[in-house]
Amino acid sequence: MSLVEVHDVHKTFPSRQRGGDPVHALRGVSLTVDEGETLAIIGESGSGKSTLGRAVLRLLDVDSGTVSFDGKDLGAMDRKQLRAQRAEMQIVFQEPFESLNPRMSIGAIVAEPLQIHRPDLGTAETRRQVRDALHRVGLPADAATRLPGELSGGQQQRVGVARAIVSRPRFVVLDEPTSSLDLSIRAQILALLAELQEDLGLAYLFVSHDMHTVEWVSDRVAVMYLGRFVETRPTAELFADPHHAYSKTLLSARLSADPREKHAYKAFPGDEDVVAVRAEGA
Ligand SMILES: Nc1ncnc2c1ncn2[C@@H]1O[C@H](COP(=O)(O)OP(=O)(O)OP(=O)(O)O)[C@@H](O)[C@H]1O
Ligand SMILES: [Mg+2]
Repeated sequence: MSLVEVHDVHKTFPSRQRGGDPVHALRGVSLTVDEGETLAIIGESGSGKSTLGRAVLRLLDVDSGTVSFDGKDLGAMDRKQLRAQRAEMQIVFQEPFESLNPRMSIGAIVAEPLQIHRPDLGTAETRRQVRDALHRVGLPADAATRLPGELSGGQQQRVGVARAIVSRPRFVVLDEPTSSLDLSIRAQILALLAELQEDLGLAYLFVSHDMHTVEWVSDRVAVMYLGRFVETRPTAELFADPHHAYSKTLLSARLSADPREKHAYKAFPGDEDVVAVRAEGA
């Protein structure tokens, strides 16, 4: 049994445009994540990566399919049970600033999960655990009294990570945790995430556009295309020899160091969902 098991999950959203067709964001996704493992999800914008991340944590309801954590079916839990379960399953978002309440102190933000999950701790112990979490993510102790707006982007994301680990989760969804950060800061945050994984035995679902990052951080990679996985393989194998035409195109984009270079994705003959899709930024 894997720590996280997702089986044949579907999710449709009503169109954001009036009278538009519904969006079938997840079309039968299955995955497993083992204890301590990193599974990366790659795929272009709109392929359903964030929807999947939220579905795995049951932050959104799915149309069909099952998600289980540590052998427990999340779909069978009531709100209260799910809330309790979330101590062990957390998320770090792409935009640190947008995900932090600008009017709350860093200490209060990081304390929040403990107040929800461990109300028994008491003020002094909560404060101690918040201090410990801030220390683990490399923030100075006095950061607790500051507001998010007073911190740099990298520090803000460290707060996002501290909030995610303070309740001692076993599994964290990282939804493009470094893509809004400068290159130099990105490496620091990735190193921090790797260190925390090692120290705390965390399993990660790591959503990313950046192939270099994925190659570096993940044990396995799932390639997502229009709400489905077209290929799920150990990282080294996939990067050496991608099987699916879409994986090949995605991975070939990493060969170019020049971000101005455009890569036109082609339609894949034989794919029932053939559409011409464009590379990120094209
Ligand atoms: N709440 C929503 N209402 C309507 N459509 C939605 C909603 N959330 C997501 N979608 C649609 O579902 C599809 C998948 O979106 P999702 O955000 O999961 O993609 P993504 O792979 O994370 O993209 P990105 O790389 O840009 O973050 C997109 O077509 C998106 O427009
Ligand atoms: Mg997304």
